[in-house]
Amino acid sequence: MFKKNILVTGGAGFIGSHLVRLLVNKYPEYKIINMDVLTYAGNLANLKDVEDKPNYEFVKCDICDFEKVQKIFIDYQIEGVIHLAAESHVDRSIKDPFSFAQTNVMGTLSLLQAAKFAWGGNFEDKLFYHVSTDEVYGALGEDGFFTEETSYDPHSPYSASKASSDHFVRAFQDTFGLPTVISNCSNNYGSFQFPEKLIPLFINNICNNKPLPVYGKGENVRDWLYVEDHARAIDVIFHKGKIGDTYNIGGFNEWKNIDLIKVMIKTVDRLLGREEGTSEKLITYVTDRAGHDLRYAIDSTKLKVELGWEPSLQFEEGIEETVKWYLENKEWMDNITSGDYQEYYKEMYKAK
Ligand code: NAD
Ligand code: TYD
Repeated sequence: MFKKNILVTGGAGFIGSHLVRLLVNKYPEYKIINMDVLTYAGNLANLKDVEDKPNYEFVKCDICDFEKVQKIFIDYQIEGVIHLAAESHVDRSIKDPFSFAQTNVMGTLSLLQAAKFAWGGNFEDKLFYHVSTDEVYGALGEDGFFTEETSYDPHSPYSASKASSDHFVRAFQDTFGLPTVISNCSNNYGSFQFPEKLIPLFINNICNNKPLPVYGKGENVRDWLYVEDHARAIDVIFHKGKIGDTYNIGGFNEWKNIDLIKVMIKTVDRLLGREEGTSEKLITYVTDRAGHDLRYAIDSTKLKVELGWEPSLQFEEGIEETVKWYLENKEWMDNITSGDYQEYYKEMYKAK
């Protein structure tokens, strides 16, 4: 018998796999049920080291399949939900917004309804934790930060779908009393990230001497947080967060894309024993992303002051660890980039 059964959705993805690993190892008294449909972004190889643990179970399920989701809530007597399953890449949302509305909005709604029915109004010791993004707040100018009070102003189909899902979560709290909590995090980096996102894509291209497609002038700014610090923050909020509240998660670690790219080039070249600056010639400025948000920056003071969370890692150390991981796990990268990825890459970057 486990003390608590926790449903993690999207646990085979980048952040989800780090969270599942943390929870399974830290809480042997909890049962962690990982619900994931395994889209292109879901990969059970991300969880090899925990797959045989007695307190872990994988269930293949589409969060939009309401009947099946409901059954899982009942069969596993789910008491807590940490919801990460989503379509997560902005560029894909520009090409195919429907799938973002379907998964991120309808999928979240399906989970909320299932939780409401399964818990039947007895919400004691229950929690629905929705993992969201800082992109719901829109874009910042040269200065200022997103706080928990910043108004929503999403620009991409991805951020619009996440904003909509956040609204549904709050609506279920306000209308039905479902105990919920939401966190909005900045850009994550680290191991096991699908190489469609900037950091793993560029590390892989630098290794393979392929062009580095920098959107626009490379002047957009992102606030980067080490993925294990995000997982730690989710753990803290899940256990100590105030019901109905929102927490921003970020590392106070802003980088202009082009500066970050130069750090990646320097690090990969050094670790591969190449002469410094060898790969700078790969930088290729391409057509900007449509609706490209200029700057994101999170103020995570509330999380620090109220719940005592702080990032554990300096960026220099985190990026070094991350580059090393991708260099040492070539097989993981080759498995991903050998199949459909080739088609994705050709299609996404053909006009650029
Ligand atoms: P990811 O794309 O790496 O993983 C998403 C996972 O969800 C995959 O395992 C996929 O198989 C699964 N999934 C997708 N559709 C599903 C469906 N219909 N049913 C069941 N499973 C499904 O994403 P990520 O980067 O790990 O992001 C996880 C969450 O964190 C997302 O909700 C995202 O919006 C949020 N987030 C991400 C970042 C970031 O920098 N990556 C930052 C802030 C917030
Ligand atoms: P990304 O990793 O897609 O995250 P997000 O768009 O959610 O912030 O992109 C990070 C930044 O890098 C963003 O400003 C877009 C830029 N970028 C490029 O310049 N080239 C690329 O090939 C990609 C994927 C992103």
